[in-house]
Amino acid sequence: MLIHPNRCLPALLILLLGAGCNGQVNGNLGKEAASATPQGSSRVGGNCDTCELMYIGIPESINATDTSAAWKEPGQKLLISGTVYMPDGITPASGVILYYWQTNSEGVYKTSDELDQKIEPHGHIRGWVKSGEEGEFNIYTTRPGAYPGRKDPQHIHILVKEPNLPNEYYIDDILFEGDPRLTSDWRRNLENRGGSGIVQTKLENGVQVAERNIILGLNIPDYPTSE
Ligand SMILES: [Fe+2]
Repeated sequence: MLIHPNRCLPALLILLLGAGCNGQVNGNLGKEAASATPQGSSRVGGNCDTCELMYIGIPESINATDTSAAWKEPGQKLLISGTVYMPDGITPASGVILYYWQTNSEGVYKTSDELDQKIEPHGHIRGWVKSGEEGEFNIYTTRPGAYPGRKDPQHIHILVKEPNLPNEYYIDDILFEGDPRLTSDWRRNLENRGGSGIVQTKLENGVQVAERNIILGLNIPDYPTSE
């Protein structure tokens, strides 16, 4: 469904449409959908529906590199690498947890019986990385498919949890240059949270490699200033 983490459809509508809050998607339609779970205005980054799911199953020890369940599934293999920067956009930020979730190569948030139903909206292709000493991270996965029958571009959702902030916040999805669904209209509605999520892929030994750098706090509402 076409929803940001901060904008889920009311439960009845979800039932009627047969779709859940599979995380966000991109903003075009989401901006017209009211949040079902209003929260305090001081929350860093604003409302973030289903984002609490990032803490379910979170490992005690998180590395700078993660390999998703999708890596061994059908689809185009993909490596997302990047650097997390402090708000100055220059200084690398270490120890920042990034949580990602995505569809499979068919555009579906597929679940299995083993999964706790609480995390079902995010599907089974999810994971965590913690930025290393130089702010670096790597995610090995497969390229997500687009939602069947919808206009949304292929995307990977990312949440950021900084060690010194009380809550997580979402940043712009990873989107793929060259995706025909990534239209000029779609681009116009991007918020550029954490910096642009649009990546250019390059094929290396059969793996699409892309870089998604993140600037903490950039275009994040209620982000605390350092002064
Ligand atoms: Fe999504």
